[in-house]
Amino acid sequence: MIKGLVLDLDGVITDTAEYHYLAWKSLAEKIGIDIDRTFNEQLKGISRIESLELILEHGGKDQSYSEEEKEMLAGKKNDEYKTFIERITPADLCPGMEKLLLDAKEAGLALSVASASKNASTILEQLQVKDQFTGVVDPNSLKNGKPNPEIFYKGAELLGLSPAECIGIEDAEAGIDAINDAGMFSVGVGSKESMKAANYFVENTEELDLKKMIEKAENK
Ligand code: G6P
Ligand code: MG
Repeated sequence: MIKGLVLDLDGVITDTAEYHYLAWKSLAEKIGIDIDRTFNEQLKGISRIESLELILEHGGKDQSYSEEEKEMLAGKKNDEYKTFIERITPADLCPGMEKLLLDAKEAGLALSVASASKNASTILEQLQVKDQFTGVVDPNSLKNGKPNPEIFYKGAELLGLSPAECIGIEDAEAGIDAINDAGMFSVGVGSKESMKAANYFVENTEELDLKKMIEKAENK
């Protein structure tokens, strides 16, 4: 029986996935690397420093920077990203999210957030939804990032539930793999192609219907 939802943040609760992309694209341009939206799919769900490493590799510059310089570049990206998220208000919840959170509350489900982002708590506060979640996994406490299932184990643990009692919702390929490996029912938001490993997928957050997801998960 489903008793909880473990949600990714960027691209699920709010569309910060777009801001991450814009900030990375701008940083990449400054160091002579071009990235596009297709490449960006690989960055979704991946930590700041690992994302930078993938970008450097993509541009053939993975040997060009010291660890210190990489930290500096990742910091620059985060500074630009923060100028985007400063402006977030409750109006920036993804379409359908307000209803989903409300429906979940009415159904007595517990909610947690499983995001690799160190900016997650700030964003949830700006959206004014933080108190609707029982817990937010601290990315600093993780040994392994997505696609490792650790973050979803922790998301369920924060709710006092087993992974089998939860539904995980993600927009990243790495995130879907993490949910699946945690033994949780996975719901993907995105294109059929990028969400092919999901147990159930919808093209946008507006289609995330609680009843339907529970029915799919309980009849898996
Ligand atoms: C999420 C996003 C990634 C981002 C990561 C770290 O997983 O999908 O695009 O790189 O969080 O975010 P941060 O805010 O800590 O740089
Ligand atoms: Mg995401």
